[in-house]
Amino acid sequence: MSGYRELFDTSISDPAAFWAEAAKAVTWTREPQRVLDDSNPPFYRWFPDGELNTCANALDRHLDERSDQAALIYDSPVTGTTRTYTYRELHDRTARFAGVLRNLGVAKGDRVVIYMPMVPEAVIAMLACARLGAVHSVVFGGFAAYELAARIDDARPVVVVSASCGIEPTRIVDYKPMLDAALAHAEHTPSACVILQREQQPCALVDGRDVDWADAIATAEPVGPVPVAATDPLYVLYTSGTTGKPKGIVRDNGGHAVAMMWTMRHIYDVEPGDVYWAASDVGWVVGHSYIVYAPLLLGATTVLYEGKPVGTPDAGAFWRVVAEHRVKVLFTAPTAIRAIKKEDPNGDRIKDYDLSSLASLFQAGERLDPDTFHWAAGKLGIPVIDHWWQTETGWAIAADPMGVQVLPVKPGSATVPMPGYDVQILHSDGVVAEPGEEGAICIKLPLPPGTLPTLWGDDHRYVAAYLSAFSGYYLTGDGGYLDEDGYLFVMGRTDDVINVAGHRLSTGSMEAVLAEHPAVAECAVIGVADEIKGQVPRGFVVLKAGASADNLAAELVAAVRENIGAVAVFKSVDVVPALPKTRSGKILRKTMRGIADGRDEPVPSTIEDPAVLEALRSILRR
Ligand code: COA
Ligand code: AMP
Repeated sequence: MSGYRELFDTSISDPAAFWAEAAKAVTWTREPQRVLDDSNPPFYRWFPDGELNTCANALDRHLDERSDQAALIYDSPVTGTTRTYTYRELHDRTARFAGVLRNLGVAKGDRVVIYMPMVPEAVIAMLACARLGAVHSVVFGGFAAYELAARIDDARPVVVVSASCGIEPTRIVDYKPMLDAALAHAEHTPSACVILQREQQPCALVDGRDVDWADAIATAEPVGPVPVAATDPLYVLYTSGTTGKPKGIVRDNGGHAVAMMWTMRHIYDVEPGDVYWAASDVGWVVGHSYIVYAPLLLGATTVLYEGKPVGTPDAGAFWRVVAEHRVKVLFTAPTAIRAIKKEDPNGDRIKDYDLSSLASLFQAGERLDPDTFHWAAGKLGIPVIDHWWQTETGWAIAADPMGVQVLPVKPGSATVPMPGYDVQILHSDGVVAEPGEEGAICIKLPLPPGTLPTLWGDDHRYVAAYLSAFSGYYLTGDGGYLDEDGYLFVMGRTDDVINVAGHRLSTGSMEAVLAEHPAVAECAVIGVADEIKGQVPRGFVVLKAGASADNLAAELVAAVRENIGAVAVFKSVDVVPALPKTRSGKILRKTMRGIADGRDEPVPSTIEDPAVLEALRSILRR
């Protein structure tokens, strides 16, 4: 492991030297003289006196050499469209949209919420915010009004950018009514909404509030990049925590740009001019990092895919995109590969396309299970790399660094910690685990550049949620172990966050919706194993005295869909006489989950009434 090992050891023993070298890949308006400010632990700041503009790094600085190179390829089987934007075109549109936002009063430090489907305008809106030094907060289109409203209230945007509709294979998703409902529900009122009218389903605009994207951009003047401090926020991305209230993960400008550039070459082995495709959504961190920022910062070509792995039109969709656009690296979630495998178990559709451009397949979002790994590696005949990360970190904590040294893959492992991440497995008493022993996966502070410096407007919650379990460590929320060779095995969350089709969701927010129903006295939502989606939620409710269970399940399913969104895939709810609890009143969710997944789950000694659990056993096993 010499190449990797040397690099990793230097990053831990002398992080400042390591990241100062990496920072040379970024164009700064003021070069940082200091690399790491560690004067105020547990808060760390990277490149504290540096100044730059992320959008200028992603677009303007490529204009000399790559003006006519494709920056973004929009491939949309759901609309039958393919469109390429050169660096010049993407730059010009972004600069003009920055003009639209400025005309609406957006200035450096202001927030803009972006609630859009997978269209180029979503990327343009993000980059335009970065250009102005404004802070974007993208909300995934699969979230409905309640989740959107919660994010609007926390981010308090000056402007919301949205679209009339999104297009799912089986239906048109009306974004505008959801936006209107969210704004009616939210306490905060933005001064304007910019709406992209899509021909598939235009919408009515609200007079005095809504602005038509096309009209506004036609008359706006282009705006140049505004330099910001490296430590200024680039974006806030909300992610699910254990409670219903989403956490606003803050990403800074300088550390992020440095980390993004470093990962493209060293982890993904991608060079400027290569085509890189992250088949995710701009609403998730994978979309932020690897659809938008990293490929463009490097000068590569990114693919923006508005479609699914299956059904648009078939299980060959991914291979068509790879072949048509000569994709070098594909990044997707294991759930997508499982969906393809289910429809095309022999991989016949793979043979229909010339995949000679494809060098590797990266997987993240959930653990790459060995079956899916073997299928993909066998059928594609290229390295299939599991890598583990979180919204909080913005880039891989553990991976196989393809651009440094290709390490042998161990199925079920995300390979080794990446530079800057001093990963340690801790037992609950804080003792470091021996190789092979499972425990809480923690990272010794400081975290490397590009990771969260805090939560939006809430330093206290940042410390409470991540830094207080073990002093001097960041708690990832995942459990797992390191083996004798230093390979990391991530086994799953240790909290109530679940992962549905690669989407991170909070069971707490679903419980909050169930609890609002007048017939519900108590409830619990757990994630249970699912063959394709990895996990799906299941709800259990106890009725209030005298309340009727008639039609209740259907009402609760509809309420979660309406409030949180279809993406929660909340389809199953059982009425039960009581929920199993500890003597201190904590619902035994982990025990319920184990039984539902068919494990031989021990009954905790702290249980209040074992009979309640026994009564539930057969329902859980269904
Ligand atoms: N806007 C609106 N609705 C959306 C949406 C969006 N952006 N994304 C998903 N939904 C809806 C779907 O239409 C579906 O609604 P339905 O209940 O009416 O059918 C529901 O949310 C669930 O969607 P999904 O999880 O996508 O399930 P699916 O059965 O349609 O597809 C997969 C299954 C595995 C093909 C799909 O989940 C997938 O491609 N997953 C990969 C996820 C990913 O890339 N994650 C990023 C991490 S790297
Ligand atoms: P998100 O913040 O949406 O990226 O989700 C992060 C969570 O997804 C992690 O904390 C893990 O629980 C899970 N996850 C992501 N990638 C992997 C992986 N490669 N292996 C195991 N779990 C993963």
